Formats: sequence, C-alpha cells, structure tokens
Amino acid sequence: MKKAAFLLTITVLALLFASCNNKSEEYIDPRGTDYAGSESCIQCHKVQSDMAFKSSHFKATAPAILANVSGDFDSKNHTFIYDKETKLVMEKRGDSLYQVVYKNGKETAKYKFEIVFGTKHAQTSVYWKDNNTYELPVSFYHSINNWATSPGFPADKPYFDRMVVKDCYSCHASNASSRSVNQNSEERNMMSMDVEDIIRKETIVYGIDCERCHGPGKKHVEFHLKNPNVKVANSITSFKTLNRQQKLDACALCHAGNDGMKLKSRFEFKPGDNLSEFFRETKSINDTTNFDVHGNQYRLMAQSKCFIKSDKMDCITCHNPHENASKNLASYSKICMSCHQGLKHKETTLKTMPEKLLASNCVECHMPKKASGAIKFQLSNSKQLSEYILRTHKIGIYPTSAK
Ligand code: HEC
Ligand code: HEC
Ligand code: HEC
Ligand code: HEC
Ligand code: HEC
Ligand code: HEC
Ligand code: HEC
Repeated sequence: MKKAAFLLTITVLALLFASCNNKSEEYIDPRGTDYAGSESCIQCHKVQSDMAFKSSHFKATAPAILANVSGDFDSKNHTFIYDKETKLVMEKRGDSLYQVVYKNGKETAKYKFEIVFGTKHAQTSVYWKDNNTYELPVSFYHSINNWATSPGFPADKPYFDRMVVKDCYSCHASNASSRSVNQNSEERNMMSMDVEDIIRKETIVYGIDCERCHGPGKKHVEFHLKNPNVKVANSITSFKTLNRQQKLDACALCHAGNDGMKLKSRFEFKPGDNLSEFFRETKSINDTTNFDVHGNQYRLMAQSKCFIKSDKMDCITCHNPHENASKNLASYSKICMSCHQGLKHKETTLKTMPEKLLASNCVECHMPKKASGAIKFQLSNSKQLSEYILRTHKIGIYPTSAK
C-alpha cells in the first residue's frame, strides 16, 4: 500500500515537473502575461491567420534578415553617389547587409541594416547605436525599383544621425518598450543626442499582429482550449458590438496622420477605446485642409460625401482587415454600386468613357492617385525631387479625371 502511494507521489511529482518544464518553454510575450502571441491563434483561426501573416500589416516592421529586405545588393543598382569623392554602397557581407561609405574609393564607415520599416511602396531601414535606432540615409522605392534618399534626407552627403523614435514603432510595430534615462547618468552623458528614452530591443514585437488590433487574447485562448465545444467567442472584444466611431478609431489610430497632441501612448489603445482620449486634435475633422495622401486615409475619407451622408461607411466597407488592399480595382466598383444603384452619369462624362468600361473603373476617376506632400525623395546624381504617389481616400468629383 505504502509502496503504491510512494510510486503515485513520484509519478505525480514527475508529471508536475514535466508540465512545469513545459510551461517554462512556453511563449512569453513582451507585452505581458495577458498576451498569447499570434502563433497561438493559428490553431483555431487558420483562415484569418493565413491572410494576415502575409499582409503588409504583419511586415510593417521586421528584423533586417535577407528575406525581409527589398532592393539590389550586388548588381548595378546598389550605389548612391553623393559627389565625386563620396559614395554609399549597399553591400551584402556574409549574412548581414550594410550601407558602406567610401571616400575616394576607401571605405570610411559602415552601418548595418537591423530593422526594416514598410513593404508595399517603400522600405526604409535603421541601425542601432547607443540603444536607439537611427534611419539609414538611403531607402528602397518600388515605384522606381531603385534606391534613393530616405524622405527628408540630403542628396549631397550621407547623414546618419536621424533617430527613429518610439513614435514610429507605435504605428509600425505591436510593442516597443522604453526605459527612461536618468537625467545625469553616465549613460545619458555618453549619448550624443538629447533623449529621454531608450528603446529596449528585446521588447520589440515586430509588425502589426492579431493582438495589436484585437487586444490581449491570452484569456480567450485559454478559455477556448478548455472549452472546445463553446462556439461563441469568450474574453475577446467583438468588432460587431462596436459603434461606427469605435470601428473607425481602431484604424484611425495609425491611419489619421500624426499631428494631434499626444495624451497617451498608441500602444495602450484597445479596440473599443476612443481615440479622443489619446490625442487632442489640432485640426477639426470638418477642416478643409488638404490632408496628405500618405498616412491619412481616415481624414481624407471623412471629407467625402459618401462618408458624411451615408452614416455607415468605414474602412471595413472596402477593406478586409486581414488582407492587403485589393489590386483588382474593379472589385471596389461593386462596393460603390451597392450604395449608388441607378446611377446616371452626364452625357459629357459618358463621352469620355463608355458606360460599360466606366462601371468597373469608379476608383480611377473618383479616388485618383495623388502625390504626397510629405514624402519626396532624390535619386543618385539627380537634383530633382521625385514624387511619392498614393490613391486619395477623398472620394469626389475630380475635374482632371474625365480625360
Ligand atoms: C482554442 C481555439 C481558439 C484559439 C486558440 C483562439 N480563438 Fe479566437 N475564437 C475561438 C472561437 C470558438 C470563437 C467564436 C467563433 C468564431 O467567431 O470563430 C473565436 C472568435 C474570435 C474572434 C471574433 C469575436 C467576435 O465575436 O467577433 C476574434 C477577434 C478572435 N477569436 C481572436 C483571436 C485571437 C487574436 C487569437 C490569438 C491570440 C485567438 N482568437 C485564438 C477560438 C479560439
Ligand atoms: C498599429 C497601427 C495600425 C493600425 C491599428 C491599422 N493599420 Fe493599416 N497599416 C499600418 C501601417 C504601418 C501600414 C503600412 C504597412 C507597410 O506597407 O509596410 C498599413 C497598411 C494598411 C493597408 C495597405 C496594405 C497593403 O499592402 O495594401 C490597408 C488597406 C490598411 N492598413 C487598412 C487598415 C484598416 C482597415 C485598419 C483597421 C481595421 C488598420 N489598417 C489598422 C498601420 C496600422
Ligand atoms: C489591422 C487590424 C487587424 C489585424 C492585424 C487582425 N485583425 Fe482580426 N479583425 C479585425 C477587424 C476590424 C475585424 C472585424 C471585421 C468585420 O467585422 O468585418 C476582425 C475580425 C476577426 C475575426 C472574426 C471573423 C472575421 O473574419 O470577421 C477573427 C476570428 C479575427 N479577426 C482573428 C484575427 C487573427 C487570428 C489575427 C492574426 C492572425 C487577426 N485577426 C489580425 C482587425 C484585425
Ligand atoms: C501615425 C502613424 C505612423 C507613424 C508615426 C509613422 N508611420 Fe510610417 N506609415 C504609416 C502608415 C499608415 C503607412 C502606410 C500607408 C500610407 O502610406 O499612407 C506608413 C508607411 C510607411 C512606409 C512605407 C511603407 C509602404 O510601403 O507603404 C515607411 C518606409 C514608413 N512608413 C516609415 C516610417 C518611419 C521611419 C516612421 C518614423 C519616422 C514612421 N513611418 C512613422 C503610419 C505611420
Ligand atoms: C456606404 C454607401 C456608399 C458607398 C460604399 C459609396 N458611396 Fe459614394 N456616396 C454615398 C452617398 C450617401 C453620397 C451622397 C449623395 C448625395 O449627396 O445625395 C455619395 C456621393 C458620392 C459622389 C458625389 C461626390 C460629390 O462630392 O459630389 C461620388 C462621386 C461618389 N459618391 C462616388 C463613389 C465611389 C466611386 C464609390 C466607391 C469607391 C462610392 N461612392 C462608395 C454613399 C456611398
Ligand atoms: C470606398 C472604398 C474604400 C474605403 C471606405 C476605404 N478604402 Fe482604403 N483603399 C481603397 C482603394 C480603392 C485603394 C487603392 C487600391 C489600389 O490602388 O491598389 C485603397 C488603398 C488603401 C491603402 C493603401 C494605400 C495605397 O495607395 O497603396 C491604405 C493604407 C488604405 N486604403 C487604408 C484605408 C483606411 C485606413 C480606411 C478607413 C479610414 C480606408 N482605407 C477606407 C478603397 C477604400
Ligand atoms: C471616366 C471617369 C469616371 C468614371 C469611370 C466614373 N465616374 Fe462618376 N463621375 C465622373 C464625373 C466627371 C462626374 C460629374 C459629372 C457627371 O455627373 O457625369 C461623376 C459623377 C458621379 C456621381 C455624382 C452624381 C450626381 O448626380 O451628383 C456619382 C455618385 C458617381 N459619379 C459615382 C460613380 C461610380 C459609382 C462609378 C463606378 C460605377 C463611377 N462614378 C465611374 C467621372 C467618372
């Protein structure tokens, strides 16, 4: 009897020990124990995961390993010439990528690609120095399939001192914790610039992941693992229960520009929160300001009659939040027509495009492509600024559209 009890105790202890061991190997999210991490969602939400993992949101920031970096590193298009003496070359050395400065053919400095920002139209990269990240002076642009100056960077000399602060991560990543630097500490004195915070590298959660948009999901995961027969979502905010403004705010958090006065960190936002508690807007939404086509889809859309008069248009009307914007422009026409049945264009308009063709090209005329006023770049050996072109979200009648 005693022997059996002893054996049982041993077995139980061994099992406990094994499960403890398992626990210690479990994923620990830098955001805290309320978070489960995106990998844990796949087992029950394969459809959403398959889409989202491939999306630009998930790639909005990423470690600069070869597979994540765009651009040419070894053929003709990998040199940026500043002047007769100075050039910058994008180079692959081993498994690492660098921007290398040459003066009169001699290497004088090299900076490593460590984190990439962006994937769809352009990609800029940063390197680490003194526990902070700094933008590399040359970025890759898909529109020209080439390297050119990072936005706002000079084309006559390489510049390496532009810090990429936590604010950038708050729109491009799911977490980046910082630590304040003591006013008079040695660490602060060592730093070349006047900074309050340093970013803790190990706390970065790259890209915009499931829980960035849905809020912490650990409880939800644990509940459904324990209760596989429950088919109604538990412990997770349902977008279906949110009102229009709350749904809009969940996207406007990052798609409404960056000029409001900050009250709280974007990282603290959860679906259902009101954006007005995070920013005090300096511009009214009814403002006739020309908002930039880069990064401000919300305010442009909010200026269009469709948005104002329909009282139901939001971002999800046209976008699947788990997928990239559709490349099939005709697919949007169907959405337009769901509100614009029985639409009649004027004869003069129909002369510019036959009705049949017009029916699948709403976007081409009413959401035309526009140059960003905020982002411009310069090619190597060029005095001219190139434009960064995006589609406007201010749906309207544009005079130039009826070519
Ligand atoms: C063990 C299974 C399981 C795991 C793991 C799981 N979920 Fe769910 N989830 C469910 C079930 C069941 C529902 C309810 C049915 C449905 O909507 O698919 C649900 C619903 C949802 C909904 C919709 C809520 C609504 O009512 O609109 C969201 C959002 C969601 N889950 C997010 C997540 C995220 C994010 C993760 C990972 C952190 C995750 N889930 C992990 C089982 C799971
Ligand atoms: C935490 C910040 C953040 C939130 C919240 C966010 N986005 Fe984004 N979104 C971004 C960033 C950054 C990009 C650019 C990614 C890139 O190209 O690298 C982006 C890109 C996109 C794109 C273009 C993707 C492509 O490649 O076509 C769409 C469409 C989009 N977002 C829609 C939405 C919608 C709809 C919501 C709300 C449900 C939303 N976003 C919420 C930051 C965010
Ligand atoms: C850019 C923000 C964003 C990201 C990232 C995101 N979701 Fe969603 N998700 C939404 C929104 C908004 C809805 C509501 C869609 C609707 O009502 O049509 C939604 C809906 C859902 C639903 C309900 C069913 C459905 O498809 O409408 C599930 C389940 C879900 N998401 C799981 C996930 C999982 C798992 C991930 C990560 C792999 C993820 N989401 C990433 C914004 C996001
Ligand atoms: C207020 C949120 C926000 C902040 C802050 C922000 N971005 Fe973005 N960024 C976006 C959104 C949204 C997009 C994609 C849509 C667009 O261009 O309108 C984007 C696009 C980009 C792209 C091009 C990606 C692509 O291909 O579409 C790069 C590169 C980029 N951002 C880098 C940065 C850097 C570097 C910083 C800091 C200096 C920064 N961003 C700060 C929201 C933000
Ligand atoms: C949710 C419904 C809805 C959707 C979707 C929608 N619209 Fe509209 N749209 C409206 C309403 C309502 C008005 C205002 C009509 C009025 O003033 O009587 C409007 C007005 C317009 C106008 C006139 C604008 C002006 O300034 O006079 C144009 C052009 C237009 N829509 C084009 C589009 C296009 C193109 C799409 C698709 C990309 C679209 N709409 C999608 C509801 C919608
Ligand atoms: C009436 C339909 C419609 C609505 C509503 C809408 N979008 Fe879009 N969105 C589009 C179209 C069309 C494109 C362009 C696709 C293309 O050219 O490949 C687009 C592209 C984008 C892009 C990629 C930018 C680019 O030019 O590559 C982002 C980011 C985006 N939308 C975000 C949003 C956000 C955030 C909202 C809500 C504030 C929103 N959209 C609402 C139709 C819409
Ligand atoms: C070739 C460019 C072009 C295309 C394509 C086009 N439109 Fe228009 N649209 C115009 C112009 C120009 C006007 C103003 C003159 C007119 O009414 O014909 C207009 C006017 C409108 C109006 C306002 C009508 C009113 O009575 O106030 C709406 C709504 C509209 N278009 C929706 C659409 C939708 C939806 C589609 C796609 C099915 C579409 N348009 C395709 C150029 C275009």
